[in-house]
Amino acid sequence: MKKIIVEGGNPLSGSIEVSGSKNAALPIIFACILTNGVSEIKNLPDIGDVNVALRIISNLGAKVYKEKDITYIDTENLSYSTPEINLVSKIRASTYLIGSCLSRFGECRLMPFGGCSFSHRPIDMHLSACSSLGAVIDGDSISAEYLRGAEIVFKKPSVGATVNAILLAASADGDSLIRGCAIEPHIDSLIDFINSCGGSVRRQKNDIFVSGRRLHGGKITVIGDMIEAGSYLAVGLMCDGRVSVHGCPTEDMASVFKSIENLGAKIDLNGNCITAAMTDRANYFSLTAEPHPGFPTDLQPIFAPLMARFSGGMICDTVWPSRFGYLNALSPFGVRSSIDKNKAKIQKSKIKQGRTSAPDLRGGMACLLCALLSKGKSEIFSADLILRGYENLEEKLNSLGAKIKIENIT
Ligand code: EPZ
Repeated sequence: MKKIIVEGGNPLSGSIEVSGSKNAALPIIFACILTNGVSEIKNLPDIGDVNVALRIISNLGAKVYKEKDITYIDTENLSYSTPEINLVSKIRASTYLIGSCLSRFGECRLMPFGGCSFSHRPIDMHLSACSSLGAVIDGDSISAEYLRGAEIVFKKPSVGATVNAILLAASADGDSLIRGCAIEPHIDSLIDFINSCGGSVRRQKNDIFVSGRRLHGGKITVIGDMIEAGSYLAVGLMCDGRVSVHGCPTEDMASVFKSIENLGAKIDLNGNCITAAMTDRANYFSLTAEPHPGFPTDLQPIFAPLMARFSGGMICDTVWPSRFGYLNALSPFGVRSSIDKNKAKIQKSKIKQGRTSAPDLRGGMACLLCALLSKGKSEIFSADLILRGYENLEEKLNSLGAKIKIENIT
């Protein structure tokens, strides 16, 4: 395991190039299982979750190699074998094995899929999508002699279930209509990738139309990570600085900009460069995390320290109503908060140095914001959880003037 040692208290300013989006890269990697050929993926982030996903598909026979900033995935010779449980249980994206392996091999083991443990994470919607196309669940496995195009209707937006429904329908026999889909930017990037493989997928608002095709290798550049972008803008706001982030699709971040302005900060946009800095008026404000294009749930933990640092605030999360476990990890830094049903009240707090363990990926970044602000030495254990989703974290933060060091402790 790793820990992060932080000498905090410095104002942090500068410019960050965001990496490829974790949540866009992962569906694309598993979608390669559907294809026969070599796919070229540009701007794949070198982060924990991506490396686990590449190991999972390599164990199915995929050949993965890298030249400069392009990762090649050759899926000519694949055969199904039960993936290693210690890999599958590390990442939530291993749920994408369901759609990809059912499509390619007609079978998939249902295993303890991983991911941040901030909430119960069912897969009922994934499985109902599989059944709609003819798959049969038998205990801890699911199989399909033959996948036939059909209509799938989701009760609410689910990124993972939408990804699996697309992976199932993309090479099923005939046409499918998927209603009530999630429309996060990473869904559109998966659609672009599958169409580059010879697929026929089209999104119209929350409906996705798919015609099954045989798929060859494709080409895609992974979009910039808007959660990473929002995280670094928050670092500058937290630490009396001015941070610019480049390389992220700004059109996907309107709800994030609104919340940054509600805090009392100023946002400047110049092409794909976003700059944020505090004004002298900080406000108490509320935010509600919702499916895209609403405020992203993955940034709500990262806005809690901003509320504590400035004027307090209220957070509600309609995607994961109980996603507030990270507040326990923030209390060693002096963050005062309380939970009232599905709302978290964050009080204006005196942030101080502390020692804690990262509770999960985004909660860990929230802890890091508190440590970066606080004068003196702080330590964050279980730092591997933060490195699952933030590429070159140490280099990027230290380039802003931070003094952090990541150390192995076991
Ligand atoms: C993806 O998780 C992301 N992970 C999460 O990001 C993100 O928080 C989430 O989407 C929402 O945007 C990846 O992309 C790898 P969902 P996912 O299915 O697909 C319920 C991060 O920090 N639901 O959209 O698991 C579910 O309980 C991670 O990068 C069902 O009820 O999320 C939740 O309330 C954390 N049944 C809601 O839908 C199902 O079968 C949305 O979940 C599936 C989901």
